[in-house]
Parts: sequence; C-alpha cells; structure tokens
Amino acid sequence: MSNPDWINRWKQGRIGFHRSEFNPTLLKYWPQLKLSEARSVLVPLCGKSLDMVWLRQQGLEVIGTELVKTAVESFYQEQSLQPAVKEVQGYRHWQADDIHILEGDFFALPEGSIQSTVFYDRAALVALPREMRQQYVKHLANAAPHIQEGLLITVEYDQDLVSGPPFSVEEQEVRALYSPRFEVIKLDTHSAPASTNLREKGVNELIEVVYKLALSSQPPGLF
Ligand SMILES: C[S@@+](CC[C@H](N)C(=O)[O-])C[C@H]1O[C@@H](n2cnc3c(N)ncnc32)[C@H](O)[C@@H]1O
Repeated sequence: MSNPDWINRWKQGRIGFHRSEFNPTLLKYWPQLKLSEARSVLVPLCGKSLDMVWLRQQGLEVIGTELVKTAVESFYQEQSLQPAVKEVQGYRHWQADDIHILEGDFFALPEGSIQSTVFYDRAALVALPREMRQQYVKHLANAAPHIQEGLLITVEYDQDLVSGPPFSVEEQEVRALYSPRFEVIKLDTHSAPASTNLREKGVNELIEVVYKLALSSQPPGLF
C-alpha cells in the first residue's frame, strides 16, 4: 500500500487492524524485556493504538510515528488529551502526557532523531510489503540508533490465498532482517483471529508469532 492508500483507509474507516483494548500479547510479554523499564519506547507506524497508553502507564515516554493525521487526531481525541503541536524537521510533533506522535513518513525520519532504547512493533513490519521491509529495519536503526531491545509481533498465514496487509512474515525472514545486529528470540506462537480485510477474503485465522529482539553482543554489523 502506498501512502495515499493508507490515508484513504483512515478516511474511509477501514481500520480493521485497530483494537479497542490493550493487546494481551503486549501485556504478557513486555515484562520479558530487560528494558521494560527503560525511559522511552518507540512505536513505529503506531496508528491510534491503545498500546501506547499502556506503555505510558508503565512509566515510559512513548514516541509513536504515524503517517496519517486522522489517526493521530483520533488518538488524542479518544484519550481526552489536549496535545501541543509543533512543526519539527518536516514533521508535525504532537505531545500530551508524554505520549509523542511524529506525524509524517517513517522513512523520512532524520538520522538519530529518536532517542528511545526499546521499541514495540505490532502490525508495523507486517503492514509493509516484502520489498519495503528491509528498508524499514534499516531505517529503524538509522533513526533510532540507541535501540537495544524490541518486542515484535508478526503474523503468518498462506500468502497465496490473499495478499496483505497484514503480510505474512515468516521466522526465516525476521531472522534475516534483524540478525546479526539483534539476537532474535522467539517467545510464543499462537493462533489469532484474522483482521477484517483478511476475513473478507476467506482467511479466518492466522498464526501470531512473538519475538524478543536483543542487541547482539557481537560487534554491530550493518543490517
Ligand atoms: C496496520 S496499521 C497498525 C497500527 C498500529 N501499530 C496498531 O497496532 O494498531 C499500520 C499503520 O501504519 C501507518 N503507516 C503506513 N505507512 C507509514 C509510513 N510510511 N510512515 C508512518 N506511518 C505509516 C498507517 O497509516 C497505519 O496507521
């Protein structure tokens, strides 16, 4: 999907990926991160995810990045927060109660612009087609060079039945994308209901896979 496609999706309310509760997988596995009590967490491609509220409740400053203004506006409105908004380096920076959202294209985030040491990826990597996923992982390292740990949730299903998003991203690809910079530790695999757009096309269930990514003790190589 191109940027205009995402903008249209939000405009038309086709946001079957959005959950109206905290993600139980986040609540269950976040404590397994050493840095679960870090100062700042990056939530790439954040939408209006309630998980940002939960992460904030854990005492973390939250830095979300989101392309679509409607998503960002809805997030603060639905949380009854009054954000301060300013223009920074080509982005619109929204902030209320230490939940910051950088409105703009993730792939244009300036190098070193994010200080977070930990990230949370639910429905971000899998929102991108294969040809963009390597660029996403590279850009994550580039924009947020202090990242030491992350919690990643992917989905797997038969991609021949339907094209994404969400895209099916298998373990082998996750390892290829994040190694050797990160040690990739698989924490869990469970079945989960498919999002609306997949169900519409006949995929009712998929496999959700949870990974912990920990900065490798090897000398950092390029992604
Ligand atoms: C599948 S949704 C997931 C949202 C959120 N992570 C969640 O769990 O609800 C992907 C989100 O990424 C946003 N997005 C897509 N491309 C983007 C880009 N290049 N930069 C920033 N956000 C982007 C979309 O607008 C959408 O809100």
